[in-house]
Amino acid sequence: MSSNEIPAREAGVDARSVLRWAASTWFAVAVAGQAAFIYFILAFYGTRTASGRFAAWNDKPLITGYVQGDHTGNAMFAAHVLLAAVVTLAGLAQLVPPLRRAAPGLHRWTGRTFLVVACFLALGGAWMAIARGSYLSVISAVAILLDAALILTFAVLAWRAALARRFDQHRRWAMRTFMVVSGVWFLRVGLMGWIVVNGRPIGMTKRMDGPADIVLTFGSYLIPLAILELYFAAERSSRPALKLAVSTLIFASTAYVAAGIYGAIVMMWGPYL
Ligand code: HEM
Repeated sequence: MSSNEIPAREAGVDARSVLRWAASTWFAVAVAGQAAFIYFILAFYGTRTASGRFAAWNDKPLITGYVQGDHTGNAMFAAHVLLAAVVTLAGLAQLVPPLRRAAPGLHRWTGRTFLVVACFLALGGAWMAIARGSYLSVISAVAILLDAALILTFAVLAWRAALARRFDQHRRWAMRTFMVVSGVWFLRVGLMGWIVVNGRPIGMTKRMDGPADIVLTFGSYLIPLAILELYFAAERSSRPALKLAVSTLIFASTAYVAAGIYGAIVMMWGPYL
């Protein structure tokens, strides 16, 4: 072994653990932020729905929300928001490796629940946007409908790879599905993060068609997907420099996500609880 090889290999091992740390830190922050989202859904929509106070869904600003006499629309809205808590919890559970190893049967069932509920939310959400007219601007409707299309496509690919026992592909499609399903959470966190970082809403409008709104609505799933692809490339690569560059990007995006979670709790969810 030449004297040059040892530092290179050590650097490779170090860069690998930095990448693992970056991914774990990102995931820990995402768990905290998604747990806050689940808590908000249950404490706000869960309590009002369980006690039959459906009109009180509109205690917070919504696009359409509860409409007197619109039984189908109201039922779809209730199913959508309550299942949003289920899909978020199931998605997180799927990504915890010790849980997957300790209870593979549970992993299969939460996986099926996650994929079926995600598809229901995508189809139901598309129905609310198109048939019920629940959208703020055409561009924000296009962004969320593209997210719905990606959810349906990725969920099918993740499921097919699992059935065919192609587990490496299954892992990659399942993680992509997690990112696009989390798009609605990223959107809230991304919008609030932008306000926290700038101290005020720059490039944003009430109809969500300002320049920052457009970047953040499409970016809410396209940016996480792009970072995930870079993470896969860095995992596969033997180049420590790539692993370190991607780790830095993940740490930076984690800081933004943390600011956004803080903003969402303080400005978006907390005031209505
Ligand atoms: C898959 C994960 C999804 C989750 C976790 C989720 C979560 C939520 C939540 C919590 C709300 C209540 C509004 C609020 O309090 O902020 C909501 C409303 C809504 N969502 Fe989703 N959603 C998902 C997917 C989608 C998709 C893919 C679409 C569209 C294609 C969509 C369209 C809508 C619409 C139109 C509303 C009604 C807004 C209103 O009437 O004010 N959702 N969603």
